[in-house]
Amino acid sequence: MIDAASSSLTVLGIETSCDETAAAVVHRTGQGAGTVLAERLLSQLAEHAPYGGVVPEIAARAHLVHLDRLIGEAMTEAGLDFSALDAVAATAGPGLIGGVMVGATMGKAIAAVRGLPFIAINHLEGHALSVRLVDADIQFPYLLLLVSGGHCQLLAVDGVGRYRRLGGTVDDAVGESFDKVAKMLGLGYPGGPALERAAKDGDPARFKLPRPMAGRAGCDFSFSGLKTAVRQTAERLPEGAFSSRDLADLSASFQAAVVDVLADRSASAMRSFGKAKGKPPAFVVAGGVAANAPIRTALRNLAGENGFRFVAPPPALCTDNAAMIGWAGIERLALGLSDRLDFKPRPRWPLEELAQT
Ligand code: KG4
Ligand code: ZN
Repeated sequence: MIDAASSSLTVLGIETSCDETAAAVVHRTGQGAGTVLAERLLSQLAEHAPYGGVVPEIAARAHLVHLDRLIGEAMTEAGLDFSALDAVAATAGPGLIGGVMVGATMGKAIAAVRGLPFIAINHLEGHALSVRLVDADIQFPYLLLLVSGGHCQLLAVDGVGRYRRLGGTVDDAVGESFDKVAKMLGLGYPGGPALERAAKDGDPARFKLPRPMAGRAGCDFSFSGLKTAVRQTAERLPEGAFSSRDLADLSASFQAAVVDVLADRSASAMRSFGKAKGKPPAFVVAGGVAANAPIRTALRNLAGENGFRFVAPPPALCTDNAAMIGWAGIERLALGLSDRLDFKPRPRWPLEELAQT
């Protein structure tokens, strides 16, 4: 077992669970934050854009074509030979299973050939721990809002592999709702960044949209009713006369509703998370939607009002990337955790089930 306190760890991370093919070499000395020695990321956006969403078969084939080269480039950029690695970590779920199998199999192959430990990473754990890669001060437990294209959850992060779900979406994930509304408004794919841009000069108060679940007990979310309300609002506007002002205002009104819902549900989670004596706990927001500037601002203010320290990884670490996978590998390896080469990739893999693996 590796001595976590004193050792210096270098791990190759591989991410292929959706439409990003990525490899990164991450390093940590002692128990501090990490350093990304090299990172290569290829977005498959152009390949999926004509279909208005990710096509699993196309994604898996693209990972197969590009992953080997990206790993080689990352190792060269880091100036390291595979023998300098302490382990190989690859996303093993949840996600599109074809892509996950490509990345996990590649990770296992490198580990087997080089005699290195293989670490199967839960993609959500990658997002959940990513903040500790850049901020060594983040101590467990912390409150986490995980908002991505496939997930919308509030979790208490008690430690590596130890997650308590406080609430989650009962229908669409928040990123999914951004993507669907953007598609509906003709903004293209991926919808989140496009919608944020469209909303920039819009009037968020022009259209009255619902705030699903706001004010309810617990920490659950719902976004499908909001999406329907946007569609109905757009349909009520005079046909053929949907102006760029209408587009900006409707985008801004939708985004404002999402901001309110995320803030309301997070406030409820803060109340149930409670506060230990001493240092204020961290409220961490991670996942692709955490790249959204108005959402970050609102959540930062909310945290301040409720005695939490707001922390969000930089936007490039919020959207899918391999550095967070390499980092989760370092966190696990430091605890002596690694996986067998026959580990089966899992298309569904809730964070709460991690402790048992
Ligand atoms: O974490 P991520 O890269 O992939 C998943 O694991 O799902 O998240 C992607 C999601 C997409 O739904 C995308 O539209 C959304 O994050 N997203 C955003 C923004 N940037 C990405 N949503 C709102 N505003 C953004 N700026
Ligand atoms: Zn993700």
